Amino acid sequence: MTTVGVLAETAGRERRVALTPEVAGRLRKREVDVLVEAGAGRRAWFDDIGYADAGATVVTRELVYAGSDVLLCLHPPEDLAAAARPGQLVIGLLGRAPALAPGVRAISLDRLPRTLSRAQAMDALTSQANVAGYKAALLAAEAYPGYFPLLMTAAGTTRPAQVLVLGAGVAGLQAIATARRLGAQVTGYDVRAAARGDIASTGAAVLDLSGPAADAEGGYARGLTEDEAETQLRGLAAAIPRFDVVITTAQVPGRRAPLLVTAEALKGMRAGSVVLDLAAADDGGNVEGSIPDTRTVTDGGVAVIGAANLASTVPAAASTAYARNLLALLTHLMPRGEVVLDPGDEITDAVLVPERGDGEDDGEDHA
Ligand SMILES: NC(=O)c1ccc[n+]([C@@H]2O[C@H](COP(=O)([O-])OP(=O)(O)OC[C@H]3O[C@@H](n4cnc5c(N)ncnc54)[C@H](O)[C@@H]3O)[C@@H](O)[C@H]2O)c1
Repeated sequence: MTTVGVLAETAGRERRVALTPEVAGRLRKREVDVLVEAGAGRRAWFDDIGYADAGATVVTRELVYAGSDVLLCLHPPEDLAAAARPGQLVIGLLGRAPALAPGVRAISLDRLPRTLSRAQAMDALTSQANVAGYKAALLAAEAYPGYFPLLMTAAGTTRPAQVLVLGAGVAGLQAIATARRLGAQVTGYDVRAAARGDIASTGAAVLDLSGPAADAEGGYARGLTEDEAETQLRGLAAAIPRFDVVITTAQVPGRRAPLLVTAEALKGMRAGSVVLDLAAADDGGNVEGSIPDTRTVTDGGVAVIGAANLASTVPAAASTAYARNLLALLTHLMPRGEVVLDPGDEITDAVLVPERGDGEDDGEDHA
């Protein structure tokens, strides 16, 4: 019988947990044993009693490591290299090349072939980006000093907020949809031709800077050339001042997030405007000067919110979706109750981190 173990996340601000009591119960029905580290779900509002009621066994971290065939997590656990045993399989959003002790295998959901329809139920990048995009619109609305919707009251009519969403992948489209539900007038922008159709299908307006389409493989964007990027920055700087709220979500795989909103563009915005950067990172995001997990206000009165890891701030919904992604993956890997790592299977082959010496790439994403 296979034993699946759930580790508490070790990253400081992380509130999500890899498995919920709901999915623990569904694994138990498939005769899979489940070990849960005590307190693992606490910050997502899943208490130990819920896991025990679902048939899981709540134990110490040491016992999870000692007793599990499969370890579940979100981020790579700090103690993974030291604590995991040969023969164990670790599954999470581990990046392309997590540090592993010899004999430990890893599946990283970052490697999932996302356009494969069979893999969609396992797509944790999508489920978590959806949560982040939703929360981005809420945070921006909260920071904005006006209403999002048009309101007709006895005291007169308020105009709706003008919201611009830059980058219309999974997170961007969810931010667009959420801002529209809140009543804002929303415009979306992306460099991929396919994304422009996606924006239009939400009912939002499409900002057209008449640049070249930059679609690349797998539904992702390619990096722009220097000239293209400069033209884009100029076009955006001209468009941005008419918006009250800008939400940025642009990413290019294997590269730093593209700069889309310069300090100059921020200067053109009205006082009280809000710019939320979902791509905020220590090495720079989509907005010049944005700092992860920090809200700053420019001299011109524009709030700049660096919003890193927003999925963690909606921990119950994000954990629920993530745990269901893992259930779909585990069901795929365990057709008869035991884990089978079949390299001939397209999904397994893609998500399995190559063992050192397998001769694939070095796992690093090169710009
Ligand atoms: N089942 C499926 O087929 C499936 C599932 C999930 C995602 N996808 C697709 O995968 C793709 C990637 O989605 P994602 O959300 O992970 O993307 P992502 O996080 O890599 O990037 C977010 C968005 O930023 C855009 N972007 C990049 N550079 C930009 C720039 N300079 N200016 C403006 N926008 C820029 C990208 O085009 C993308 O839409 C999308 O096409 C999505 O529809 C498909």
